[in-house]
Amino acid sequence: MSLNRKIVVIATGGTIAGAAASPTDHTAYVAGQLDISQLAAAVPGLTQAAGALQLEQLAQLDSKDMDAATLACLAQRVAELLDDDAVQGVVITHGTDTLEETAYFLHALLAPAKPVVLTCAMRPATALSADGPQNLLDAVTVARHPGAKGVLAVCAGAVHGPLDVYKAHPYRLDAFSSGDAGPLAWVEAGGLRVLRPWPEGQGQRQVLASLCRPWPKVAIVTSHAEATAWMVPALVAAGAQGLVVAATGNGTVHTSLEKALLQAQQAGLQVRRASRCAQGLVVEGASDALPLFAAYPGLSPVKARLALVLELMGLASVALG
Ligand code: SIN
Repeated sequence: MSLNRKIVVIATGGTIAGAAASPTDHTAYVAGQLDISQLAAAVPGLTQAAGALQLEQLAQLDSKDMDAATLACLAQRVAELLDDDAVQGVVITHGTDTLEETAYFLHALLAPAKPVVLTCAMRPATALSADGPQNLLDAVTVARHPGAKGVLAVCAGAVHGPLDVYKAHPYRLDAFSSGDAGPLAWVEAGGLRVLRPWPEGQGQRQVLASLCRPWPKVAIVTSHAEATAWMVPALVAAGAQGLVVAATGNGTVHTSLEKALLQAQQAGLQVRRASRCAQGLVVEGASDALPLFAAYPGLSPVKARLALVLELMGLASVALG
């Protein structure tokens, strides 16, 4: 095995590659404008630092528009790189808006034994004080760190795990949080202060080719004040094969919506439950009645949606609670 293994940086677009008309403009910019060689060139010394860097452009999109085809391509490319002995780790530049979904998806599918580090920016590359270059440097630092492994998300010096990470702020540079769990590590002065163990999991890389067929339709319905039943039959009629209900508080669902979901479940639709609360887990006491809908413990609605997609495709079995 080569002693000087490479880090592969895969670009997918996002604000980190965004451009605005003025350096003081942080909002009216277009994501996904600069290519990966321009992003790397903005980090002094990155390409000259010890160890080789390989740059690849896989997509150029605003991550709000992330789609099945791009996720499938990304997973396949990352899987190839994980199998390559010459690769020490992978860095993925990504938009912040759905980064937590891609992180969860890659974790559930690949559970890599090497680091796969997603990074991003909250300000476009043209900003007076852009955060992308430092985040990219930090992500490479994490990917090179001896022993680092698993899918990780690096932003504003914090290293988050794929299950806990979520975008918590629409504007601030430290936009991500791991909620109650806190970050896994901090990047400090070019080094890493590791707080918790790296993510573990079981990936099923051999079945990745199946990602190329059409994905099952899985939608999220939110339980809220005045939530009614009408959207459930409408979604079923539109071809939904699974539904995730973003439940209130400790996993409760509006009675009208609950009735409609129960009917759909009895007719064969897969229904999962996740809490709308950003932090914490649904807590079940010993004397609670059995929940009507199963949950992937700890997964947010958007991650639970991907878990159900993968489950329906037979690509990952995520523990149900
Ligand atoms: C995106 O998610 O692609 C745009 C927003 C961002 O990266 O902050």
